[in-house]
Amino acid sequence: MELRKITGNVYWAMTKSKLLLTKNLVAGESVYGEKLLRISGQEYREWIPIRSKLSAAFYKGLKTVAIPEGSKVLYLGASSGTTVSHVSDMVGATGEVYAVEISEEMGANLILLAEKRKNLFPIIEDARKTETYSKFVPKCDFLYQDVAQRDQVDIFIKNSNVFLKNGAYGALAIKTKSIDVSKPSRFIIEQTVNSLKRNFIVQESIDLFPYQRDHALIIVRKK
Ligand SMILES: C[S@@+](CC[C@H](N)C(=O)[O-])C[C@H]1O[C@@H](n2cnc3c(N)ncnc32)[C@H](O)[C@@H]1O
Repeated sequence: MELRKITGNVYWAMTKSKLLLTKNLVAGESVYGEKLLRISGQEYREWIPIRSKLSAAFYKGLKTVAIPEGSKVLYLGASSGTTVSHVSDMVGATGEVYAVEISEEMGANLILLAEKRKNLFPIIEDARKTETYSKFVPKCDFLYQDVAQRDQVDIFIKNSNVFLKNGAYGALAIKTKSIDVSKPSRFIIEQTVNSLKRNFIVQESIDLFPYQRDHALIIVRKK
């Protein structure tokens, strides 16, 4: 099977239809029921677009994702670690993923995941309260956020001010219905892009339909 590298341990497998894969950091371990594939002696994990917005963005033609191996990533809204596990694959053994999750229930799975993934550091806190984790988190190369909250833009800006290196990239997943259920998704995406422009250069904005309905991923670069 032919593989095409996209960025830090992420590949397209050129089967009948394209399949997104990450090189598995922890051989033999599937995290959420995804398939494991062995190609030329290396194990890869299928990255399923209906389970992960970042995967959906790749399937929708994402161009600017700067998460090479060795990157330090701050991930807000980690849940039980589905997408986090692929970001952990992306940065590899020399990278670090600081994963913030408010729910103790979700966080329990994240802590279990981190026992196997040594580059993953779970933080069970509210991402609005940066002061509760600023002691553990260094300046990062990438900020990823998926919290599905009304104040998601404020949370993103606050964290980028504290933790994101100048000129570094970030990605904000927005659930348009969390912001205003009465307005069309297109309008909410445009409004969110405009509110990010003071702090960031907006690189691209991707509607994740049909993989994730009423969701978009906005990629920015810190000014
Ligand atoms: C849509 S889910 C995230 C899914 C996950 N990013 C993935 O792709 O695997 C949103 C998560 O954000 C968490 N969350 C919501 N508000 C938060 C906050 N203020 N701080 C940290 N996590 C938060 C929720 O508990 C939930 O687990």
